Amino acid sequence: MSDQHIRITPSILSADREDIVSEIAKIAKVSDLIHLDIMDNRFVPNQTWDLAQAQEIITASPTPIDAHLMVEDVDRLAIEYAMAGAGSVTIHAEAALDIGKTLRGIRSHGARSAIAVKPGTPIEGYFEFSDLVDMFLIMTVEPGFGGQKFMAEMMEKVRLTRKAIGDRPIWLQVDGGISIDTIAIAREAGADTFVAGSAVFNSPEPAAMVEKLRQRASAL
Ligand code: DX5
Ligand code: ZN
Repeated sequence: MSDQHIRITPSILSADREDIVSEIAKIAKVSDLIHLDIMDNRFVPNQTWDLAQAQEIITASPTPIDAHLMVEDVDRLAIEYAMAGAGSVTIHAEAALDIGKTLRGIRSHGARSAIAVKPGTPIEGYFEFSDLVDMFLIMTVEPGFGGQKFMAEMMEKVRLTRKAIGDRPIWLQVDGGISIDTIAIAREAGADTFVAGSAVFNSPEPAAMVEKLRQRASAL
């Protein structure tokens, strides 16, 4: 497993929204991408940034943005986020109407493309899109809120996805409840890209926590 590059993609969901640029500055240098959770209060029972606000964050961030779209109108919005300059755009399989077309559209605007599945959604049916995705995201909590408990029972899905990826250069991300206590479990199952929200931003030293998480995952 050591040949897989470890990526830490901190989520700013748990950061101070009034001063997001300073919050990003705290972790930008030590992060591979900055994970931006977009929620519309329809696909999930919570609302975060709209496209105009996200555009400002994308423009201001010195580190590429990993846009995780938890929205109903995802086929259209995914293209908008790619056009806005997000480094990576993730669509939920449960929300997309035309997954293949949307993944192609994301790539055609220069962003990496990704598919996410909620805890209750099997992943196998989406392996057929392997040639069109740059990352699979296995949710390890029910999407909507930060600070929830890591669902270790999702590790079977992570293992299955790692196996299906084979030699392809597809990243395998986990999101939800990742901390210094759980990151090794997800790494061991085959994840190589880790979202961490509350673990990073509830820490008195967010950048040091990102480094600690990276070390913990790299030690395996
Ligand atoms: C949840 C979001 C996560 C969230 C993770 O719906 O997708 O990215 O920010 O937060 P923690 O790391 O606190 O579980
Ligand atoms: Zn997320």
